[in-house]
Amino acid sequence: MINKVGVVGAGQMGTGIAHVAALAGVDVTLSDLSMERAEGGKSLIEKNLHRQASKGKIDDALVQAALGRITLADDLSAHGSDDLVIEAATEDEAVKTSIFKALCPVISSETLVASNTSSISITRLAASTDRPEKFIGMHFMNPVPVMKLVELIPGIATADETFERSLAFTKALKKTPVISEDFPAFIVNRILMPMINEAIYTLYEGVGNVESIDTAMRLGANHPMGPLTLADFIGLDTCLSIMQVLYEGLADTKYRPCPLLVKYVEAGWLGLKSGRGFYDYQSGDVPVPTR
Ligand code: CAA
Repeated sequence: MINKVGVVGAGQMGTGIAHVAALAGVDVTLSDLSMERAEGGKSLIEKNLHRQASKGKIDDALVQAALGRITLADDLSAHGSDDLVIEAATEDEAVKTSIFKALCPVISSETLVASNTSSISITRLAASTDRPEKFIGMHFMNPVPVMKLVELIPGIATADETFERSLAFTKALKKTPVISEDFPAFIVNRILMPMINEAIYTLYEGVGNVESIDTAMRLGANHPMGPLTLADFIGLDTCLSIMQVLYEGLADTKYRPCPLLVKYVEAGWLGLKSGRGFYDYQSGDVPVPTR
């Protein structure tokens, strides 16, 4: 049983994971580089829990109980007695491995470690730890409180027991697991990111503008969000790093990142989180296309 879970990284994904774990009755330690960041993460969780309560999905008592289960920290040693620690930091291999290097010596040898990476090799991340057999990929989807899927990705060394415990934990969070082999970007992003990248090529080549591309895919393929809105929602830096993992990991030019995506990231236009991407979110209630 996983009764105590640690989440490293209080961004979009880490707060979502902490949110669903606390709602499922699990004690959560949420850590980030500073208390300020961790507190910012908890405010976001509070806002999203109230959003669910206002829709009648959960009651106020549950909101308070869930918030009460979340402890904040700015030090990895706070995860010392967790049953499972899930890393949800930036999609950057060097950042992730440096977290594992600092984390492993300060947690119990029994603790399982998972990464929420959306694309990086689980086998390689596991090899950077002292416990490859207790390491697994647990890839949640954004927004975590709403999306039902978790991809479970065992690495080459992951023990059966680690997999079984992660599977039971996923089900306890009321999520549906899908098992993916450990190949670049797993299942969801192997399919989703080339689609988003192609939408950006469609924009780059002038086939359509931002609005027509998104409308076409919303109304023509019944996607809840158009691909460019979705790219902004995920973060253009994350989209680019996943495309780079596909391009390098599979050595196939069909995965080359669109130069326009590179340009947006270089400009710091990272989507919703930076206020501007394929849409500008700063100029009023309705996002304004930037092309
Ligand atoms: N926390 C809690 N509840 C949330 C929420 C959050 N962060 N975000 C949305 N909701 C709830 C809303 O309150 C609303 O609840 P009701 O159904 O009870 O009314 C419901 O979700 C729908 O939200 P909205 O009405 O605000 O807007 P919407 O109908 O446009 O839905 C959406 C929003 C769920 C995000 C939808 O647009 C959608 O499914 N988009 C696609 C998301 C997607 O593809 N995600 C995967 C990204 S890929 C990924 O994550 C993997 C990766 O590694 C990059």
